[in-house]
Amino acid sequence: NLPAEGKFTWKAPSNIALVKYWGKKPVQIPANPSISFTLDACATTTSVTFEKKEMTGDFSFDLLLDGKPKEDFKPKIHTFFERVEAYLPFLKDYHFTIETSNSFPHSSGIASSASGMAALSLCLLNMERGMMPNMSQQYFNVKASFLARLGSGSACRSIEGPLIEFGEHDHIPGSSNLYGMQYPFEVDGVFKTFQDTILLVHKGEKQVSSTVGHQLMHGHPYAGNRFQQALQNMDALKPIFANGDLDGFIKLVESEALTLHAMMMTSMPYFMLMKPDTLAIIHKIWSFREATQVPVCFTLDAGANVHVLYPDHVKEIVHRFIDEELAMHCENGHYIHDQVGLGAQK
Ligand code: PMV
Repeated sequence: NLPAEGKFTWKAPSNIALVKYWGKKPVQIPANPSISFTLDACATTTSVTFEKKEMTGDFSFDLLLDGKPKEDFKPKIHTFFERVEAYLPFLKDYHFTIETSNSFPHSSGIASSASGMAALSLCLLNMERGMMPNMSQQYFNVKASFLARLGSGSACRSIEGPLIEFGEHDHIPGSSNLYGMQYPFEVDGVFKTFQDTILLVHKGEKQVSSTVGHQLMHGHPYAGNRFQQALQNMDALKPIFANGDLDGFIKLVESEALTLHAMMMTSMPYFMLMKPDTLAIIHKIWSFREATQVPVCFTLDAGANVHVLYPDHVKEIVHRFIDEELAMHCENGHYIHDQVGLGAQK
């Protein structure tokens, strides 16, 4: 009962990790658990149009970014199709037209792989839901996250929100290395409306991809300690979230960001993704926090951009600080105000 044709559209958000996932085993199995805020404004919208083929052959698809053919993304999508075919056995029966666009500027240094792979997974899984009308929402969310993980590990944290855990942890019931899930413990309201302003320090391509970075954790001299630390930080977050402990949150989140970059600087070959402006911003955040006691902190992705994190109730003063002191360190003064979001939407 395969349909002849159809179209599904999904919008999936990006996410920002608080405890970082860095290091993995095949196929996309994280070396340690991670947790992220789901974002809201930074998102990818993807439409998948499908038409049944006369004969099954290899995967067949066209890919358009902002309406224009995007040949250089095709190998990544092809690998993704190969990985998920076992779970979506109808893929070779169709020709797909995948049309995608990001809410954030192209090559802004904001990784679109998490939001992009999540949106594509949701569209493809929606085809299966059409064939299995009794599919539960829970099954749908878990499988969407499972498929997204096979595209990009962190993408499995972009299906739901506001706080998503990914990776097995003995003290977190239901946690899995195969998909992300809602953080199951109590979370104080202050974290449910948290703000994230993304400072676009460097918009170009990164010199080292996250795929290579993950690989460099194999045989890394500090890997074992780092994976232990991530487990401990997941435990330490539990009372921080429950009590709305902003000081504890700031210490843990900044330490995680710097540890991620420390792993890059101490791998072989070593590399550094922070830029002078990244460091200037970090120092200004520290001085501002010390002078004003405003609970604002930073985190970093695998790149030079800085995510400035702060509670909603200090939004006004932090926005002024960003305009007056931090925007000058961004490429063309460019930053994006975002906040915690609730996950993907049809
Ligand atoms: O999803 P990947 O393979 O691009 O890895 C993401 C790695 C970090 O963004 C640096 C950390 C994380 O947990 O998102």
